[in-house]
Amino acid sequence: MDIKKAKARVTQLQKELNYHNQLYYNDGTQAISDGEYDSLMNELKRIEELHPSLITDDSPTQRVGGTALKEFKQISHPVRMLSIEDIHELKEEEISTDTNSEHNLIEWHKKTLKTLPSNQELFTVEPKIDGVAVSIMYERSKLQYAATRGDGETGDDITQNILTIKTIPTSLPNNAPSTFEIRGEVFMQNEAFEELNKIRSKEGKTQFINPRNATAGTLKQLDPNVVSKRPIEVIFHSFGLIDGYDLKTIEQYRKFLMEMNLPVDKWFRIIKSSAQLRTAVLELDSDRHSFPYGTDGAVIKVNQIEAHESLGSTSKFPKWACAYKYRPEQGQTILNGVTIQVGRTGVLTPVAELDPIFISGTTVSRATLHNQDEIDRKDIRIGDTVIIEKSGEIIPAVIKVNVDKRKLTAIRFDLYTHVNGKCPSCNSSISKDDGFTAWRCNDPNCPDQIMAKLKHFGGRKMLELEGLGISVAEKLVTSGLVKNPLDLFDLKAEQLAEMELDPAKLHSGATSKPRRLGQKKALKLTQSIQTAKDLPLARWLHALGIPNLGESASKECARTHRSFDEISNSSILELISERWEKENWVKNNPVKSKNITNDTSSSIDRSEQSKQFKNRIIEINELLQNYRISSELGGVACRSLITYLNS
Ligand code: IVH
Repeated sequence: MDIKKAKARVTQLQKELNYHNQLYYNDGTQAISDGEYDSLMNELKRIEELHPSLITDDSPTQRVGGTALKEFKQISHPVRMLSIEDIHELKEEEISTDTNSEHNLIEWHKKTLKTLPSNQELFTVEPKIDGVAVSIMYERSKLQYAATRGDGETGDDITQNILTIKTIPTSLPNNAPSTFEIRGEVFMQNEAFEELNKIRSKEGKTQFINPRNATAGTLKQLDPNVVSKRPIEVIFHSFGLIDGYDLKTIEQYRKFLMEMNLPVDKWFRIIKSSAQLRTAVLELDSDRHSFPYGTDGAVIKVNQIEAHESLGSTSKFPKWACAYKYRPEQGQTILNGVTIQVGRTGVLTPVAELDPIFISGTTVSRATLHNQDEIDRKDIRIGDTVIIEKSGEIIPAVIKVNVDKRKLTAIRFDLYTHVNGKCPSCNSSISKDDGFTAWRCNDPNCPDQIMAKLKHFGGRKMLELEGLGISVAEKLVTSGLVKNPLDLFDLKAEQLAEMELDPAKLHSGATSKPRRLGQKKALKLTQSIQTAKDLPLARWLHALGIPNLGESASKECARTHRSFDEISNSSILELISERWEKENWVKNNPVKSKNITNDTSSSIDRSEQSKQFKNRIIEINELLQNYRISSELGGVACRSLITYLNS
């Protein structure tokens, strides 16, 4: 084929393939079979290989491929990527005669309306897609980059990964704004997610927890060839920097996206009143169950964009939008038994073993019962029909019993008797701390405790140790290689490669053959252990699993200290902790007012003490003033951190 003919054929093939991508991904239909599509694609690849000069940036062949990156470049967002304020649907027990479940949303609407001029009273309602945010920048119609949200200011450059999504064009029509930063959600359809997990199960790989988790894991891949095999999609819902286009309303923006062939959600409403807002969110609640992807809420926005600027934003959220979160879905099923899980601090948690039940997209067969007090308070018995609730990332929980369905055979449950007074993992004694409801295993060398510590240590928000799945963690502990998460740093890749993992449970219920970890995975794990050494202090603090020191407190602590050394000599922590103790004392020892005059010496002492403490609190506030420490790092966290460091 001469170059002229080749060029004509390439142009035709590119056009055809783009058309079929469009049909498939935007309209959900297919005009040709997968086989016919592949043969067109192969033909295009062949001609382009023979005539590389014909390869254009936006050829369908260029979407996949590229080489694996070493790390993601960082992109600084020209406009900060904010999150949205959550407004929750009321729970049954919160609804009284004069409120309905949309009460909080209607209040938000009223409050926002008050600040808007009378010609700007329209709001839009659309589904909140349960995915991972992305920002894509087009300049002079050409795609420049795609970035994750990151910390809102800076994100990872995931351009290669985003280009594997066939609905994302590398160039836009010529009338696109000169600077056009569009934002949306990357997600996986529920069915595609289930299919992906099935395939992974057959390959002996770990399962993704839910579609969002699978999407987030996919976007983190450095190799776009891995990403191209994962069924991710995108829907655009907002924007960052736009130049060269007079954008007036959300409605107009959505139409404009559609004109540019960029995917938007089909479900969209414009509302004029509180009544219409209620109808819209109720309608969405009933419609969303048949959506192919997960959504747990509605996003409500002021339609007029001019008003967005005048309303402004807090440090976290814009004031012109909110996310209305529906109550988590519930289901009823039978409680067949209770098993005990030993957590990383040794706490024994009773877990309900249930008849499997399908709730909001996934099958639930276990749910937490929290602790003995909760079991007693809700009077939960084995054999009962129970109500299960699934809320976002939190593990499903048993909410209450359907007492009408209780059988005479239902049996009460007592944790202490059930475990015979011993830890079910290591047989050591268990005890209950004063004022606490939970039973705890007393042995810090308990394998289940170490395993849970290890899993936490390597978790996504901690040190992100790739390859430290459940089966690997289990083997490391049972073989005695790891007694403390820090032992991970002494492991050698060769030693890990030879490690024989226990058979894994497959989806079908069967078990896989025992397998060695292997060189490749061992290397990946040791490499990510090395990388962890350079992770920021906040991640390390969080990873240590210090009681009461969660992600936000760790971040705030790391913001005000440079190293572990500095933390262990910190006067800031001492001051916050002291202030908290004094505040508690003052609260618990109220001073009687002066006109009730039966002053005893003890109440005089108390009033003097209270005065001194209050003065000291003022002094501490002054000392801490310059650090501007947020309430995320409170007295409980500081006390706990000090105790940990002293030990
Ligand atoms: S508008 C200022 N619309 O939810 C942020 N966001 O929890 C404007 N999200 O950051 C975003 N569906 O990543 C918008 N229909 C939708 C959305 C949506 C999902 C995400 C988005 C946002 C996050 C906030």
